[in-house]
Amino acid sequence: MAEALEGDAAQEDQQPPESRDSPGAAFASPVPETADELIDGWSAADAPQEPEIGHLSRPKVTLADVGGLAEVKQRLQASFLTPMRNPELRLQFGKSLRGGLLLWGPPGCGKTFIARAIAGELGAGFSARRNRPCLLFFDEIDALGQKRSQLRHSGAMRGVVNQMLAELDGAASDNEGLFVLAASNHPWDIDSALLRPGRFDRTLLVLPPDAAAREAILAYHLRDRPTQHLDLAKLAKITDGFSGADLALACEQATETAMEVSMKAGEVRPIGQQQLVDAVRSIRPSIGEWMQVAQNYALYGNESGAYDELAAYMRLRRRR
Ligand SMILES: Nc1ncnc2c1ncn2[C@@H]1O[C@H](COP(=O)(O)OP(=O)(O)OP(=O)(O)O)[C@@H](O)[C@H]1O
Ligand SMILES: [Mg+2]
Repeated sequence: MAEALEGDAAQEDQQPPESRDSPGAAFASPVPETADELIDGWSAADAPQEPEIGHLSRPKVTLADVGGLAEVKQRLQASFLTPMRNPELRLQFGKSLRGGLLLWGPPGCGKTFIARAIAGELGAGFSARRNRPCLLFFDEIDALGQKRSQLRHSGAMRGVVNQMLAELDGAASDNEGLFVLAASNHPWDIDSALLRPGRFDRTLLVLPPDAAAREAILAYHLRDRPTQHLDLAKLAKITDGFSGADLALACEQATETAMEVSMKAGEVRPIGQQQLVDAVRSIRPSIGEWMQVAQNYALYGNESGAYDELAAYMRLRRRR
């Protein structure tokens, strides 16, 4: 690193002073006559850079880091990961490597997290058709794929939705090797045309974590931190109704408390059970509002059966 810095400094010294601060300096040489001359004149620094998003393309998270959601993981394995990893089997069964899947459910319960994990598993880039096989992930697709009737006054957005439909259909393009994953916590705002066969025809409900999942999520968020002996099962018991994000926040708060204590003590004092209990008690679960809205759709807007899974979950909870 030190070497590189020295190199840069040396180069800078050789440059004429005006090239450093005058924006027009790059064009100080005579205007090129031909395109080739122009291209020759461009320095390597002007070459197009990989977009920043490239850094996201090899996420470190894997499905093992996602707490709970066993059924969701199982379905993702069957529809994406197994066909992807077993090309011969795929050929024997004539299974194509393409598909669109929508993850939906309350906020903070792992939709975005699981999408990153799948990309981590596939070793696929969040990238484009050129780099197949790849995973294209539309997070919060309700913002992009809004019902076109709601977009009456926004021609540009309607164009985006129409274009997305055309791309997904693959009529104008070959989509083999292209997985399209989307996530939403407002599925009722999504244009139903997006949910037809061949597009996002599969949907997966990502529900709040059950007790075992909450325990796993707590363990995940405390894994690299100094802790006393903790009873995570007990914490899981008192966090019914918490989302993964709520649990992550509780761990964050308890960590801050332990750090304060350590600061004052002048030595590391690991995170204790009571600090986590206090953090949990100070947090209001964030999915209540969503559940109320969703319940209305499940009760009064479920002609197509799209909310059956959610309705079943709500019945189950009421019985408990
Ligand atoms: N199942 C889980 N396992 C581990 N951590 C989780 C899980 N669910 C949520 N989390 C934690 O909560 C954070 C927020 O979750 P995430 O961003 O995936 O929620 P989301 O479902 O996409 O919510 P939204 O609908 O608001 O976008 C994650 O970054 C992670 O730290
Ligand atoms: Mg999200």
